[in-house]
Amino acid sequence: MPTLLVIKASLFGDDGQSSQLANAFTSRWREQYPNGQVLCRDLAADPLPHLTAEAVAGFQAEATERSPTQQASLAMSDTLIAELKQADAVAVALPMYNFTVPSTFKSWMDHVARAGVTFRYTEAGPKGLLETGPLYVFCARGGRYQGTENDTQTRLIEMFFGMLGFAEIHFTYAEGLALGEQAAAEAVGEARERIALLPLSVREGSQ
Ligand SMILES: Cc1cc2nc3c(=O)[nH]c(=O)nc-3n(C[C@H](O)[C@H](O)[C@H](O)COP(=O)(O)O)c2cc1C
Repeated sequence: MPTLLVIKASLFGDDGQSSQLANAFTSRWREQYPNGQVLCRDLAADPLPHLTAEAVAGFQAEATERSPTQQASLAMSDTLIAELKQADAVAVALPMYNFTVPSTFKSWMDHVARAGVTFRYTEAGPKGLLETGPLYVFCARGGRYQGTENDTQTRLIEMFFGMLGFAEIHFTYAEGLALGEQAAAEAVGEARERIALLPLSVREGSQ
């Protein structure tokens, strides 16, 4: 039974454009994998705290040495990582807020990147420790950045998820959403057409 993990971060919940694109994708995924299950991690509805020095020290401490606060931080990080490990495919609904990813999503990144758990350091740079399936990213943006140096998200996502071991990443963009109704409708329409054509697959052996 394959599992799709959907990570959302729009302030506007399911009204957010990124959430709506991810939901359209999820509907298609459910049709393709009728016996599959969908897990949702909504980072706006259930925000994570910022990572702290105390939490990082707790990640590395012996179990008996951890304070209750450190135990709670570790448990939260473990839960997020377990969701990623369970996922045979991952979808990220990614709004652009103030030229970058939502702060809630950055907190998620900070809690799942754990040396020795999700990646390890090597002489050639970090190496992913997760056995991954495909990653689908749905970017919603008021302006237009794709293909320019102002697209701060695409390379970040490639680097971050690449570090965890994701080798197959598909981006879908809805851009120019603040540039008038017609521009927004066209952008969303094109994104939906792309979603209909995205290659669907899951981690090897999970079907
Ligand atoms: C707080 C905030 C900051 C934003 N900053 C940017 C920005 O820097 N660049 C941009 O192109 N659009 C920006 N926008 C517009 C959003 O990218 C756009 O509304 C998009 O639809 C957000 O995704 P969502 O609808 O899934 O929340 C911003 C919107 C909000 C609410």
